[in-house]
This record gives sequence, C-alpha cells and structure tokens, in this order.
Amino acid sequence: MKEDLLTVRGITKTYPGVIALNNVSMSFRKGEVHGIVGENGAGKSTLIKTITGAIVPDSGEIIFDGKTYDRLDPIAAISIGIGVVYQEFNLIPGLTVAENVFLGKKVEGTKYLADFKTMNRRTKELGERIGVKLDGSKRLWELSVAQQQIVEITRALAENVKLLIMDEPSAPLTNVEIEKMFEIIKMLKEQGVTIIYISHRMDEIFRITDRVSVMMDGKYINTVNTCDTNRQQLINMMVGRELKETFPERITPVGEEVLRAEHLSGKGVRDVSFTLHKGEILGFAGLMGCGRTETMELIFGARERYGGELYLKGKKVNFRNTEQALNSGIALVPEDRKGHGIFPDKSIKWNSTISCIKALSKFGVVNLKKEKETAKTYIDAMRIKTPSDEQLVKNLSGGNQQKVVVAKVLATKADIIIFDEPTRGIDVGAKQEIYALIRQLAETGISVLMISSELEEVIGLSDRIVVLSHGKVTTILEQKDFAQTTILDYASMA
Ligand SMILES: Nc1ncnc2c1ncn2[C@@H]1O[C@H](COP(=O)(O)OP(=O)(O)OP(=O)(O)O)[C@@H](O)[C@H]1O
Ligand SMILES: [Mg+2]
Repeated sequence: MKEDLLTVRGITKTYPGVIALNNVSMSFRKGEVHGIVGENGAGKSTLIKTITGAIVPDSGEIIFDGKTYDRLDPIAAISIGIGVVYQEFNLIPGLTVAENVFLGKKVEGTKYLADFKTMNRRTKELGERIGVKLDGSKRLWELSVAQQQIVEITRALAENVKLLIMDEPSAPLTNVEIEKMFEIIKMLKEQGVTIIYISHRMDEIFRITDRVSVMMDGKYINTVNTCDTNRQQLINMMVGRELKETFPERITPVGEEVLRAEHLSGKGVRDVSFTLHKGEILGFAGLMGCGRTETMELIFGARERYGGELYLKGKKVNFRNTEQALNSGIALVPEDRKGHGIFPDKSIKWNSTISCIKALSKFGVVNLKKEKETAKTYIDAMRIKTPSDEQLVKNLSGGNQQKVVVAKVLATKADIIIFDEPTRGIDVGAKQEIYALIRQLAETGISVLMISSELEEVIGLSDRIVVLSHGKVTTILEQKDFAQTTILDYASMA
C-alpha cells in the first residue's frame, strides 16, 4: 500500500446560510489519480480552495508530505509543491504564454521578475515535461481554448510539484483534446505526481482514476477503488438515491418549418444550410473550432454574416444585432457564461427573471409575487442549491451558476431557443432535470437548436443532428442513424 501525500482532517467552512464543508476528512496517496465527485454545490471546489490556500477554513488541518498546517496561503502552497487548475480560467489574454505561466511567481535563477528569455526557456522546459511544445512568446489570445488549458496546466507545474489538482479541467474541451490531457496526466503520474481530478463526466472518472471519493452536501461520504465500483453505484452514492439516466422521449410529432438557413457564411462558417421545425430539437455536433458556436451567433445576429439567407417562418430576416433576434422570438444560452450569460453581482431571482421582466410587470411595475414565483419554479425544477433566491450568483458553485444561465433563457418563452453547451459543469442528476425541461419545451411547440460536445447528450436529446466540420455541414442525421462512431466520422471529415 502506498503512503499518503495529503490528508485533510476535520475541515469545516461556512458561509452565511451555507455549510460548504462539514467536518471533511480525506486522504490522497502518493502517485495516484484520485477523483472527487458530487452534485453541484457538494463542496468540491471549496475543499480544493482550502488545500491551495485560496480560502481559510473555519477549522481543521492539512497534513502535506509529513507536515501539519492549520492553514495555507497560495504562495506557501505553491512552494511546498501544490499546483492547481481551477474550474474557471485564470489566464490573462493580453499577456504572453510565458508571462501567464510565471504570473505572480519568481523565476528561479533571475534577479528580476520579468526576464523574458529565461521565462520563455523555462516555459518550454515545463512544456516538455508534459510532452507539449510551448512557444512562450505567443500572446494568449492567439491560442485555442484547448491550448489555453495546456497553459493552465503548465502554470500549475512548479519545479517541485507533488500534487496537481484539476477542477473540471475537461469542461471546455472536446473528445480529441481530452485524450491529449489524459496523456499529460499519465505522464505526470509516471513521474510520481499525485493528481486530484474533479469531473461530472463519469466516463472520465472511470478511465483515469485509481480511486474516487464522493461528497454530498458539504460532507465526505466515502472513498472507493475505481475498479471496485460502477457508474450506477457511483451516481447513486453521489445523489443519495436511485437515479436512472434516461432521455425523455418525444410524444407529439414535430410541426411545420420555422427556421431555414440557406448557404450561411461568416467567419469560420462556410455554406451552412438546414431547416428547423416547430417543436424540434436539432442537435449540432462537431469538434472544437468546427463552427458550431459561430453558426449560432450568425443566426442570433451576434456576428457579421458574409453571405447566405435566413428565413423565419418563411420570411427573410437579417438580424443586425441580438436585440432584433430576441424581439423576433429567438433566445440564446451562451457557451461562455462569464462573458454574457449572467450578472454575477446580482441575485438568482434578478438573473432568472430579467429576460421576462416585461411579462411580469404591469404599467412598468414589477409584480414581486410573480417574480418570486417564477424564480422559485426554476430553483426547484433544476434543484439550484442556495439558501434563498436573494443569493448573489457569484456565490453559487460553478454548476449552479450554469443552471441560472439556463433558467434565464427558459424564462424568456422564446419560440426558438439556442443552447450552446447547456449542461457544461452540471451534475448527472441536474442534467436529467434539464433534459426533461428542454424536452417539455419542445413538446409545447418551442424549437431548439442545441450544441453539445457530449455525444451521448446530442444523441439522447436530438430529433436530428447536424454534423459540422471545418465550418461546413458534412451530414444531417435522422434518429435511426444516430451513433457515436458515425458522428465522429463525419465530424473529422476534411
Ligand atoms: N463565497 C461564497 N459565499 C457564499 N456561499 C458560497 C461561497 N462559495 C461557495 N459557496 C457555497 O458553498 C457550497 C459549495 O460550493 P462549491 O463551489 O464547493 O461546490 P462544488 O461541489 O464545487 O459544485 P460544482 O460541481 O457546481 O462546481 C455551495 O452551496 C456554494 O453556494
Ligand atoms: Mg466546483
């Protein structure tokens, strides 16, 4: 049996109305990949932050590499060999790769903080350690999301890193890029580094972890050997009840055509044509950078159209901004919630009702009771974990913030809703609720365009699937032809 690298003992952390961590004790062995799973708001990120010194727990202790600490601060944590990749990107787009890697750190062997040559060389060396080529002089904004994620990982690798914590690192990546990240994890493991890996994707947990721990409602539940458990058991442990993973079936047939795109083109989009029917869920699949998000933005008036036509209920439309699209009954749940999804400094109630506030008002006066009821409907339906509807969104866990983004758009009661990665970072239980909500919308005649990188989800929920590759439609699949391999084949067509 390998010895422990890290033990947390009796960690408690409270916020007003919330016990984020409730007397949590857990151990992590040297050189293992240790998964942590749990519903949104279970306390995973909070636990990580106490280990990295980003927050100070109310009580408890951390034993790392034989030494006991009752608190850590970020600099101390780095210096003893703890690295972290947080749930949200923390990189600065205007800086170079090397500057980002060394942000806030002293570069060994130099007198000054900014010795570019040394930083670039060291960045290259750190990259080599995980088998990637890194050009330290590139600006961050020149990189794809997947490349940025590699910079995040490199940034977390101090010279003496013993523990690398990854909080939902795969959320912004697609299948191919996730494979690359798994290779990096494998290399680090072979170098004796302990990895803590948080994810809501069960297939990942089963592929790369040696052991997995379950948290629920701020409490530690159990740790099991990954090879001794299975998906269903683990999910039941996470949610504390039997949960069947299913996709809701269509009951009413789809109606007439409501939207038609003909030869749409724009930046990253070439000649995209498809139709959408009343009550239909049209899925969009493809690899990162294949033009899915860009296509949606073209439709939504958020991006300049170079050519092609768009017909809404048979009438030619040309939205020059998103306001015009909204007024015509099209709404969008964006991929990037930080960018334009929500207002973090406002409450859940405010965020979830702002898009339908006119419907909740009379003569410009908001009906407070109706506003509260509307917010409550979504908090209940999606099981948003919060002490009240007045909680500020920034204080919610990552997955619960995403639920608010979805609620905000569901509340608009638009005729056509575009979902770009609706369940990113959402736990398995809440995903089921969101699938049910989307299917219900479709049954009432609302049409849905849905992008998802999770193939199971596109297959399970869509009525038809449009596959894109390099900005072009490579096929439109009917339900009888849905299969992961078929989609991947068309997605990687040149
Ligand atoms: N700064 C804060 N103020 C108030 N409550 C907070 C704060 N940070 C976290 N919480 C609460 O602590 C609980 C645990 O949150 P945490 O972010 O650790 O969950 P999580 O397990 O990481 O969830 P997810 O899977 O959604 O990322 C949640 O109920 C959250 O709302
Ligand atoms: Mg989290």
